[in-house]
Amino acid sequence: MTGSRRSFLKLWAAAPALGLSPPPRAVERSSFDPWVEVRPDHLRHNVAQIHRRVGGRKVLAVIKNNGYGLGVAAAAQAIEGEPAIAGFAVVKLHEAATLRDAGVRKPVLCMGPLGESDLGDAVALDIQPMVYTPVGAALERIAARRGRPVPIHVCVDTGIGRVGVPYREAAVLLRDLASRRGLTIAGTMMTFTEDPEFDREQLRRFQTLCDGLKAEGLSLGQLHAASSFALFQNEEAFLDMVRPGMAIYGVYSEPPFRGLGLMDLRPAVALRARVAYVKQLRAGDSAGGHAPRGSRGRPAPPGGQGRPSQDWWPALPHRGHRLREPLHRGAGPGAAGAHRRRGHPLRLGRRLTPGGPGRRLRRVRLRPAHASGPAAAAPHPIESARDEH
Ligand SMILES: Cc1ncc(COP(=O)(O)O)c(C=O)c1O
Repeated sequence: MTGSRRSFLKLWAAAPALGLSPPPRAVERSSFDPWVEVRPDHLRHNVAQIHRRVGGRKVLAVIKNNGYGLGVAAAAQAIEGEPAIAGFAVVKLHEAATLRDAGVRKPVLCMGPLGESDLGDAVALDIQPMVYTPVGAALERIAARRGRPVPIHVCVDTGIGRVGVPYREAAVLLRDLASRRGLTIAGTMMTFTEDPEFDREQLRRFQTLCDGLKAEGLSLGQLHAASSFALFQNEEAFLDMVRPGMAIYGVYSEPPFRGLGLMDLRPAVALRARVAYVKQLRAGDSAGGHAPRGSRGRPAPPGGQGRPSQDWWPALPHRGHRLREPLHRGAGPGAAGAHRRRGHPLRLGRRLTPGGPGRRLRRVRLRPAHASGPAAAAPHPIESARDEH
């Protein structure tokens, strides 16, 4: 029996190589599996909010990382029809190509590094490369084959220390690129560090550079710098157009920005779930895997509140606002961190029935914990959330 079982398992393991496919699975999902809901109407609403906030300037929508996880084509198709959208910015060439395959027609900027053959592929698909090295000659050869000028965006590093021609050397590169008949500078761009004080210095460097070159007669195209953070922080950085990503998805770059009342962003993604089970707890009952403190004749261990659990929600306070205090206090330092790392059962409200829809969780913000000790190692706890009414 063992022998035949083993040979069966061996055969099964070799099935893909033999071209045998496993039988179709009868059950793909259970009725209580959570799901992600995407709201194209909220994406459009957010674009309109951004457009209003920036005084009618156009929006170059950053939909990198596969549309922040929602699908690059789906995100673009949801908002391409908005007049406020100037185009899309991605990092990977294959994302840019996916947009063209999906029929997206507005300009697409590829911000990732592109070798010479990539540049040829990009231009063939009418994708605008972001440029920051002396690739003028290579681009002119591509333009000659194409029979018309290649539009590019030139990225200047004004102090962030990422890709971009250093601002002190940028004039030389920009003059070279602008002098080539096969190229059109469609945009000149920079990225902020998102440190309000240093951002001002970065903007000063960028404007000094651009003003000087414009005075020489160079055409630098649309100047753009502002990601979501600058939409809240720095009106001077709106320039000719803005380049936000997360705000389009309804995410505030910093929690206090929500309270500024500058834009009403709506979450374009919601995690939905059905209620699996409802029960009434009494004072002192264990909730969510912690042994009640002091139960079984033992005190809770220092720095924790009982056994760790693996499969539960972080604490979501009933009416919004981040959990500041652990529900049970541990005996030692780090208790709050350990508590936050492990989480608590989700408190969803009163009028819930098993099998009914859970409330949609809004304002879910994923970010590393700022606590020290064990919590610092926590991957990405959900830090703040509010249930929808
Ligand atoms: C160059 C560049 N510009 C703009 C953005 C948009 O940033 P945010 O999602 O913070 O608005 C990104 C995203 O990381 C980026 O890499």
